[in-house]
Amino acid sequence: ADSFLFKFKGYHFGREELDIGFIENLDDFVIRESDVFIITYPKSGTIWFQQILCLIYFEEHRKGIGNLETVERIPFIEYNPQKVDFAERPSPRLFVTHIPCYLVPRGLKNKKAKVIYIYRNPKDVMCSFFHFSKELTPSSTDNFVEFMKLFLEGEVVGSLWFDHIKGWYEHKSLFNIQFLMYEEMKKDLRGSVLKVCKFLGKELSEEDLDAVVRQATFENMKNDPRANYDDKLKTCFGIQKKGHFFRKGTIGDWKNHMTAEQNEKFDKIFQTEMKDIPLKFIWDMNEE
Ligand code: A3P
Repeated sequence: ADSFLFKFKGYHFGREELDIGFIENLDDFVIRESDVFIITYPKSGTIWFQQILCLIYFEEHRKGIGNLETVERIPFIEYNPQKVDFAERPSPRLFVTHIPCYLVPRGLKNKKAKVIYIYRNPKDVMCSFFHFSKELTPSSTDNFVEFMKLFLEGEVVGSLWFDHIKGWYEHKSLFNIQFLMYEEMKKDLRGSVLKVCKFLGKELSEEDLDAVVRQATFENMKNDPRANYDDKLKTCFGIQKKGHFFRKGTIGDWKNHMTAEQNEKFDKIFQTEMKDIPLKFIWDMNEE
């Protein structure tokens, strides 16, 4: 495995900016009823949803005057280079994380704090991940065939995609959790924002809702310094590479990467792994 992976209790974290002391004590991290957790497997729309939550919760962000500080009010819990003490944060605390279900603080299982799980079709996740690794990180490989192998073996940050989503789905009754699909957000952003607001008990005026939707589109985020992570990634990994965090933001880019044979292999694994998981997936922009 790569040296930039940090394996802890069977799960691959990224080593960069990881707060190891914190994750070792994650189980005891004190949860508040008002906490909101965004959970994702990497490359499934994490930063997109972080922006959406910022826009919903912070008026200054919605008015376009928020800055990186507003964004930082939705921190990763495991990647915390500044060692922010979350216990000092005012409520409601908002977090993003890639952690698997079996590593969450036990206090989250009392069903009070809210959890939103964003998932994306795994072929697009894999392709997005391939470009991200290759073009933005000190990556393992720039070969797609090799990357697909690593992805299917779980030798990437986030470990195995199937384990991540199955873990969360199979234990959903322990949480106050809402599943939301990247593709659903892409096809109906406004409807998705409304659904999330309902889950969070947030009421936005029509005007505010418009402001959220407008500022959460791919084009807008790409040009929004509050959302654009390119500089941050360069600092984080200490390298200058040519890629951009806002790459394509589409549904079905896997078709431009995978051969028929690779696709067939992937489908077989997907069918076996996901046979008991009735979550809906969208693989193509034209699909309903
Ligand atoms: P692509 O590489 O397919 O373009 P994460 O934040 O979990 O790392 O996910 C990154 C993926 O989300 C990238 O996918 C990125 O372009 C996409 N993304 C980010 N903001 C988006 C938006 N507003 N709309 C659609 N996709 C978005």
